[in-house]
Amino acid sequence: MSLPRRNGSLELGECTRNPGFQDDEESVADNSNAVPVETRESSAVKLETTEEEYTQIKPYAGMPKEVLLLYSTQARYRVPREILFWLTVACTLALVALTITVIALSPGCLSWWQASPVYQVYPRSFKDSDGDGVGDLKGVLQQLDHFQYLNIKSIWISPFYRSPMKDFGYDVEDFRDIDPLFGTMQDFDDLLAEMHNKGLKLIMDFIPNHTSDRHRWFNLSRTRDPEYSDYYVWTDCNATGPKPNNWVSIFGNSSWTYDEVRGQCYLHQFLKEQPDLNFRNPNVRKEIVDIIHFWLQKGVDGFRMDAVKHILEAAHLRDEPQVDPNKPPEEVTTEWDLYHDYTTSQLGLHDLLRGWRAEMESYSREPGRYRFMVSESYDYHEVDKTMMYYGTPQVKESDFPFNFYLLDLPQNTSGLWAQHLVHLWMSNMPKGKWANWVVGNHDRPRIASSAGPKYVKVINMLLLTLPGTPTTYYGEEIGMENINITDSQVQDPAGKYNTSLSRDPQRSPMQWSDDTNAGFNTKSNASWLPVHPDYSTVNVEAQKKDEGSVIAQYRLLNTLRQTELPLHRGWFCYVHADAHVFSYIRELDGLDQAFLMVLNFGDESVTTDFSSVNELPGQLEVLMSTNHINNGKVMQKSRIVTEAGEGLVIRYSTSTRFNPNHSKECYISEKACYLSVLDILYKC
Ligand code: GLC
Ligand code: MG
Repeated sequence: MSLPRRNGSLELGECTRNPGFQDDEESVADNSNAVPVETRESSAVKLETTEEEYTQIKPYAGMPKEVLLLYSTQARYRVPREILFWLTVACTLALVALTITVIALSPGCLSWWQASPVYQVYPRSFKDSDGDGVGDLKGVLQQLDHFQYLNIKSIWISPFYRSPMKDFGYDVEDFRDIDPLFGTMQDFDDLLAEMHNKGLKLIMDFIPNHTSDRHRWFNLSRTRDPEYSDYYVWTDCNATGPKPNNWVSIFGNSSWTYDEVRGQCYLHQFLKEQPDLNFRNPNVRKEIVDIIHFWLQKGVDGFRMDAVKHILEAAHLRDEPQVDPNKPPEEVTTEWDLYHDYTTSQLGLHDLLRGWRAEMESYSREPGRYRFMVSESYDYHEVDKTMMYYGTPQVKESDFPFNFYLLDLPQNTSGLWAQHLVHLWMSNMPKGKWANWVVGNHDRPRIASSAGPKYVKVINMLLLTLPGTPTTYYGEEIGMENINITDSQVQDPAGKYNTSLSRDPQRSPMQWSDDTNAGFNTKSNASWLPVHPDYSTVNVEAQKKDEGSVIAQYRLLNTLRQTELPLHRGWFCYVHADAHVFSYIRELDGLDQAFLMVLNFGDESVTTDFSSVNELPGQLEVLMSTNHINNGKVMQKSRIVTEAGEGLVIRYSTSTRFNPNHSKECYISEKACYLSVLDILYKC
């Protein structure tokens, strides 16, 4: 498009033509057309002679450069221009600095392993797709909607490697293969792809301490293949003579077994079919790192590191001290008879774990692909040993070590006990670390059974309202209980030593519906362990229809946990604990809404008086009770009533925070302060 020209000048409508304007194009054209010299000269002359004339008029856009320059050097034009220039520079710099500060000071988003609970699938028992009575990977694939229904993103699946199943998968024959009982590598790939499609994360069980005695390495080691000879912990002994020392296996009796092929004893801290690897051998360390790479390259999102405290043993093989020095040595047969000074938590263990973490770190750099590590170590009263797995501010280790202390809740159902167990973790956890809570797993009786069904909901409420990541063992979301196992039904090797130690009761098939076998499989009625007889009422399908059910409460609480910032990442403050009630507040600076939890772990109904807690308003409304008919109830803060086993989530509005005046009773993982002027939270 071009504007029409008239008499060699642009048609500018009402605009006045600049008398000094010289159109280059025009002049070129004029030259070529041999325009009379006078015309050009006259305008040039005019420019020189009218300099004074121009200074009389104000400058305006479109003036010839020469004229503008006359003005631009004058102070009244130059100074504002320079001021404006430097102001622009300063503002730009200030904006950049502000952006950097806001980014640096903003509390980061929680990572996926913090935002969602971890759900443990015990694959033998979750869902059996082919009807052989044992759950499998295709079964897990079929049930992915269940996790979405619960709003759970992180799924830890207990081992499904190729295994002779002496310890149901914790005895690995090939770390790079899937056991046919669970499916194929293709099934695994399909499962992982579909999980990622649905935004779910897969955490694998990783078992570094031992392999199966059917592992290729063990076969080569017992035949003294020079490459593999030192892959396991061997020492001299003879078939009938005394054991090399008094060390005992976690499953009972000596942890040494004589191997006829090699003519020596090998160490096994678990079953004799689970020989301990020798981590003092660099080739073993390399093998394990290679396996970690193998699964990370496949895209798994994390590892649960099994039995880590057992990974190294003292090389000197001295006897461990007896707990009761007077006990005859031949009666020293269980884990509890010895202080495990030489078989657990040995020097070098954390270096190994930190090395593995570093490998995982190199796969964690893509956005959204953080690889998570949780470690399993039961350290009982030596909580500081557990905390070591958090690493140091300089060197990362586990994102968190499993916190098993709440498993002791049933020992004494009282508010004080609950607070004591929670406090054990909170007061020992290194500053700035992320807490976590476990109330059940495949090794411990279901808490619904040990605490009693009355406490199922309040325990889930505790789990989902404490700060940190909750872990839910399959079936806890519907309040499944242990099954009774007769001696002849025992499957677990631990139970073969002593029926009361069997872990079968907590491994019964998941109760999906009131169909045959509780919907665990549809193709047959086989199941590797009996289904709990309560399945006709305690099942996913039935509970989904009941707003007062365990699953309904679980789902709601989990949603609340993830949508309400104070529950998600806010302060956690103790408010009250007595023989019945444990009560705490979750709040976040800058938010008017806060939460008070009142959980009755006792065995009778009580009224709790919160009138001395000035930060609470006079009237409190129940957002959610484990007894759903109490939802919406309004109570005076001096008279908060809870039944035995009842828990309340109370949401209230306040402008007064509890934490500033009670810093000793309060914890937060990452402190955030509120800047009211900008209405933002910042790290402080
Ligand atoms: C862990 C597992 C347990 C297994 C043991 C040996 O403690 O949780 O089930 O028997 O390690 O691998
Ligand atoms: Mg070991």
